[in-house]
Amino acid sequence: MSGDRIASLRNPWFTASVGITAAIAIVAAIAGFAWLPLQQQGERFRGVWDAICSAAGLVWTAPSGAQIVRADYPTTRVEVVPEMLQGASAESIGRGATLALRCTMCHGARGLSQADSPNLAGQSPVTIYKQLNDFKTGARTSAVMAPLVPDLSESDMRDLAAYYAYLPKAKPARDGLEDSQRSICAPNSRPLRPASGATTSASRCAMSRAG
Ligand code: HEC
Repeated sequence: MSGDRIASLRNPWFTASVGITAAIAIVAAIAGFAWLPLQQQGERFRGVWDAICSAAGLVWTAPSGAQIVRADYPTTRVEVVPEMLQGASAESIGRGATLALRCTMCHGARGLSQADSPNLAGQSPVTIYKQLNDFKTGARTSAVMAPLVPDLSESDMRDLAAYYAYLPKAKPARDGLEDSQRSICAPNSRPLRPASGATTSASRCAMSRAG
């Protein structure tokens, strides 16, 4: 026995373990590539080979006239077209700024929220437009945002998107200042809120630069 090679067909342990491994592989392949795909409801395979190709991830073109499965909940209606990616006009940004006055209490005067709402400043205009559209169609549900969007027209949503995309993003925290404090510092170091808090804003900006 000690002279026998382990990897030999005459070794019954070797033959049995190879045989069992091969049997498991074959059963798993049949189950994974043929049986399970054929069990899926709504799939219309033209045969076993079709099911195998589909399970293997090969491109499978649906026969013309095949039933299209539609979701029974609202899905987005936004299609991104190249025109949406072109830069916005100054007029659009200006109109957006006016419209955004009713968003400031939650999203902040410059799109940086101090009220636990998402920061909108510097987000992609396509993203903002899509979210607004989705709130409007119900594809994205939010009890807070839903009542605010029904009266927004197509161009209102584009203008708001243009405005918020134009605003500078929050800077990453480096010196221990909160984002909410940072938001009042313009990139060119002038405070963005000239009104009552001007002095404090200016000194905070100076502090953040010194640190
Ligand atoms: C009463 C507070 C409130 C007001 C006013 C408000 N929002 Fe919102 N907004 C929220 C909250 C909260 C969310 C997060 C909703 C969620 O995920 O459920 C949100 C989400 C959004 C989002 C998606 C952001 C993201 O990153 O996913 C956009 C875009 C948006 N709001 C735009 C606006 C615009 C434009 C206005 C003004 C017309 C506005 N909001 C007014 C509270 C508000």
